Amino acid sequence: MLIIGEGDGRFLSKLVNRFPGIKVDCIEGSSRMIAQARRRLPDEADVNFLHVNALDWKYPVKKYDAIITCFFLDCFKERTLREWMPKIASSLGDNGEWLVTEFRELNGGVRGLVSYVLIKIMYCFFRRITNLEASSLPDWPAIFRANGLSQSEVFENESSMINFTIWRWGKCSQNS
Ligand SMILES: C[S@@+](CC[C@H](N)C(=O)[O-])C[C@H]1O[C@@H](n2cnc3c(N)ncnc32)[C@H](O)[C@@H]1O
Repeated sequence: MLIIGEGDGRFLSKLVNRFPGIKVDCIEGSSRMIAQARRRLPDEADVNFLHVNALDWKYPVKKYDAIITCFFLDCFKERTLREWMPKIASSLGDNGEWLVTEFRELNGGVRGLVSYVLIKIMYCFFRRITNLEASSLPDWPAIFRANGLSQSEVFENESSMINFTIWRWGKCSQNS
């Protein structure tokens, strides 16, 4: 499994505790985050941390059964994702799955307006305190589709600004 932009290891530690024996490559650009993530892991965890820029790394071909990105794609502009996506997608095995957790804008009405404003505030805040590239949510699903991936499952509820989706190669019949 490959995790990109893991952060401080909260997700990773739950994953390795839930699935002992799982092998994980974990790309993270911040050494501070890697140090925090290491501290959360049990000694026996088989995790290979890669302190690299995910946009430049030379991805191995069709190596991974699963790729996981949580709140990573929304850090980048669409132009960056369009260039990066073919490299990373090539490392997903033929039967592999890409699991994505991301923010989303809600559709229509007061909810839609509130989610639009909250996301604007969030980007303003994070652009002030980090060197975040993006200033709005990129249309990453369109870029996934353009690279031959299809959404196979979606977990969301209509009032939540976060959703979780699973993507596979080819055409899928979507479950929700
Ligand atoms: C918004 S945080 C998400 C962290 C975590 N996945 C979560 O859900 O809380 C994005 C993470 O990606 C890392 N990151 C951002 N750009 C990166 C890059 N180009 N290469 C590697 N890691 C990067 C950051 O250091 C940060 O830990």
